[in-house]
Amino acid sequence: MDQKCVICKSATYHEHDTLTSSLRKQFWQMTSMRMFIWGDWDLTDMESDENIQLLACPRVQGEVMKTIIFHEHTTAYSPSNRYITSFLKKYIEKIESMPDYELDDELTEFYISLISTTNTTSFAPGMCYKTYILDKEQYTRIVLQEEQTMVSQGTTGLQTWDASLRLADFFAEHPGIIRGQRVVELGAGCGLAGFTCAAMGASNVLSTDFNSDVLKLLEGNRQTNTEYKDKVQVAELDWANLEECARISSNVDVIIGADVSYDPTIVPLLVAALETMLVSPQQVAYITAAVRSQETFELFLKLVDDTGVLGKSVMDLTEAKMSTLCLPNPVSDIRLILITRK
Ligand SMILES: C[S@@+](CC[C@H](N)C(=O)[O-])C[C@H]1O[C@@H](n2cnc3c(N)ncnc32)[C@H](O)[C@@H]1O
Repeated sequence: MDQKCVICKSATYHEHDTLTSSLRKQFWQMTSMRMFIWGDWDLTDMESDENIQLLACPRVQGEVMKTIIFHEHTTAYSPSNRYITSFLKKYIEKIESMPDYELDDELTEFYISLISTTNTTSFAPGMCYKTYILDKEQYTRIVLQEEQTMVSQGTTGLQTWDASLRLADFFAEHPGIIRGQRVVELGAGCGLAGFTCAAMGASNVLSTDFNSDVLKLLEGNRQTNTEYKDKVQVAELDWANLEECARISSNVDVIIGADVSYDPTIVPLLVAALETMLVSPQQVAYITAAVRSQETFELFLKLVDDTGVLGKSVMDLTEAKMSTLCLPNPVSDIRLILITRK
């Protein structure tokens, strides 16, 4: 595997494989082209000329087609046509910037067929699959159907937000805190954080939301992820329903929530739900917040303090390197708030 490629003569086959794995991981997660790293995800020097030379190697071009575009997982759970087109367009631009290499015939033909046969409806933003990879070998995958627009059908819950990626990454990095635990996710949306807990060894996960379209999507995502299906249950839970919150809390060790404190009008409901559900000092809530408004974020912290019975600690995750999932450049600062009963 450490043999040098007989075509480009500059990199080993192992380096080729590392590069294609990194591209595949980002491609399946539909990482935006603006943030896409055309190199090894684990390295910081993302886009040296050497990388571009590597990307243009005919063997790498063939591997990109075989192990990304025509991969059976891509066929079953395809990113949107719009995304595949932008990925190939950018990739072709990179190859063409290298004078010594030619474009792979299969790649050229596929790209031309994609742009010439896809009608405008299949380019319109709509539902698509995103695959989140939780291990180096790329076996542990969470596949979620999601919307591509931020607000769809009047809800923000039909796509995965940065705070959810951060929370899922945190659990993937610290599986010990979740292993064997009974987890409930509040405002789960597409469900990434909860499914990640299931993959990291939680004994069971109750994935909740209050929006009927979100709940339908969440249940569909549960069915897709057959490996974790039996561990995850989907249920309606409105934070305003404190009776239901209290009922659920008796079977819960860990409460999680991502991007659930974004609106000052719902923050008091969320805090009341947390106060009701955190009944013993052994229970912990992990909430991630994207700080779009400092005022709203501070309101959340203040209302937690005002309960008099809840204690909190805050970690800044904005600059922390993502170890597992792809999030090179979050749009807002991201904080993790740990809340317990005093
Ligand atoms: C910004 S989205 C976050 C979704 C997901 N956690 C993520 O980070 O990708 C906020 C979610 O909170 C849910 N939500 C808002 N108010 C709620 C309430 N009162 N009870 C339960 N869920 C609520 C919404 O339906 C939506 O799914």
